[in-house]
Amino acid sequence: MAAPLQTVPKHIAVIMDGNGRWARERGLPRREGHRAGAESVRECVEACEEIGVEFLTLYAFSSENWNRPQKEIDALMRLLESFLREKTPEIHERNVRLQAIGQLNRLPDSCQKQLHKAIEQTAENTGLTLILALSYGAREEIVDGVKSILRNLEEGHLDKAMITPELFGKHLYTRYYPDPDLLIRTSGEMRLSNFLLWQVSYAEFYITKKFWPDFRKEDLHAAVEEYSRRQRRYGGL
Ligand code: IPE
Ligand code: IPE
Ligand code: MG
Repeated sequence: MAAPLQTVPKHIAVIMDGNGRWARERGLPRREGHRAGAESVRECVEACEEIGVEFLTLYAFSSENWNRPQKEIDALMRLLESFLREKTPEIHERNVRLQAIGQLNRLPDSCQKQLHKAIEQTAENTGLTLILALSYGAREEIVDGVKSILRNLEEGHLDKAMITPELFGKHLYTRYYPDPDLLIRTSGEMRLSNFLLWQVSYAEFYITKKFWPDFRKEDLHAAVEEYSRRQRRYGGL
């Protein structure tokens, strides 16, 4: 028997790409593309609420993005801080629980402060869980996971025989969340760029040519619609 068709993805992960090209097409500085991208976040959150998605992970800043010119990094960090300051009341009002994954201690202190404030304020919310991937790199996450397991072994909390894929998953930043069912990337690039390497093993991929600032509710609905027609076989028949 064929695997059943999918219904609603429980967890959607998005590589929000193309802000710079969106701005260049309009003769604007790159930061204007990043600013415009913030509106797409709201659209995505609303569409997820409409559909009944439980977890939404947004790739906002990668480990490798630290290699960009300092001017762009500064603009992105300022934007992140003002996004958190301005949008947290609305996020809270919508019953959204904000979370973050990545090497958060690399973020500027003022950003970390806003972030932890937002996480704390929304911790008890029971609606959509919105996870921001910030200073996130999947290889760094996996290495941190290995270190965490080694610490547990050394302290005698773990035995080698207990190490399984399930246990390893419990040592990743994403240990509190299910694996993504659907991975969306905007701007047409066909790569993962160090995002959730472990967790997307069996996710369905959806790539759109649209730049992130042009991504609207209907685009998320279209992605979910396509997802619902996929057959996930997990290596079986
Ligand atoms: C995505 O847009 C946002 C971040 C990576 C921070 P880009 O800044 O990568 O935009 P493009 O890909 O250069 O157009
Ligand atoms: C991936 O986009 C990272 C984020 C969207 C935050 P990049 O623009 O950094 O990826 P590459 O360089 O095109 O692979
Ligand atoms: Mg890019």
